[in-house]
Amino acid sequence: MYVERRETLNLNALKRDVQRNISKFQSNHYQIEELVDFVSLHHLYASALEEVSTKLSILDNDFQILYEHNPIHHMERRVKEISSLVRKLEMRGLPVTTESARENITDIAGIRVVCNYLEDIEVVAALLLKQADVKLLKRKDYVESPKENGYRSLHLVVSIPVFLTDNVEQVPVEIQLRTIGMDMWASLEHKLRYKNATNTEVYKDTLKQCAEEIEEVENKLQHMHGEILKQD
Ligand code: GTP
Ligand code: MG
Repeated sequence: MYVERRETLNLNALKRDVQRNISKFQSNHYQIEELVDFVSLHHLYASALEEVSTKLSILDNDFQILYEHNPIHHMERRVKEISSLVRKLEMRGLPVTTESARENITDIAGIRVVCNYLEDIEVVAALLLKQADVKLLKRKDYVESPKENGYRSLHLVVSIPVFLTDNVEQVPVEIQLRTIGMDMWASLEHKLRYKNATNTEVYKDTLKQCAEEIEEVENKLQHMHGEILKQD
């Protein structure tokens, strides 16, 4: 089953984001023109997300036709809000300009690919990476080597061409690939941390244990699913 939980192009959200940022920009003595540049950056990264989503969606459908299995359960995508982009640049001591953002920040466009089974993660990653116009910039495999807290996911940063009116831009997109179980764990861990940082400390051991149990269950599910496919 393939469900795309995609935000419709949300102009109102974009406007709200800009309005929230105007005061911050003014108090930090940024120019309004710079803010406008950031809005046009949004279009470029949203377009890159559109390209990557389409590629993944085509792969998912083709895999179903060939093997009667959809590797992707659903996808979620977002362009980083201007406010968090500005915060990230400031925190890293980088200039708050679109040039600097484009050069230094690789998660302005982010897509999360939630897969049905463990092996689907590698399948989807490999199929995407072998495409001629997809260039791998960074790979972090927290499935192979989970983080100390139990976090698991495969992170890729790829660069893809976006064809505009007058030119072609190479745009980085961060892709997080994970199973439904890994996603459930990461969402809760994020929520705990976001609500109150001490939560993660209180539930540290339970979270770690849950991560291990999820891994065990997903290995069993993967095995059973493989056996069923063999029977066809
Ligand atoms: P930053 O994006 O600046 O954090 O650096 P990075 O891209 O080098 O970090 P990394 O690839 O490790 O993580 C990128 C994203 O993965 C984060 O923004 C989160 O969305 C997710 N992530 C990483 N670690 C965790 C974690 O421990 N818990 C949860 N819930 N999400 C995580
Ligand atoms: Mg990030």
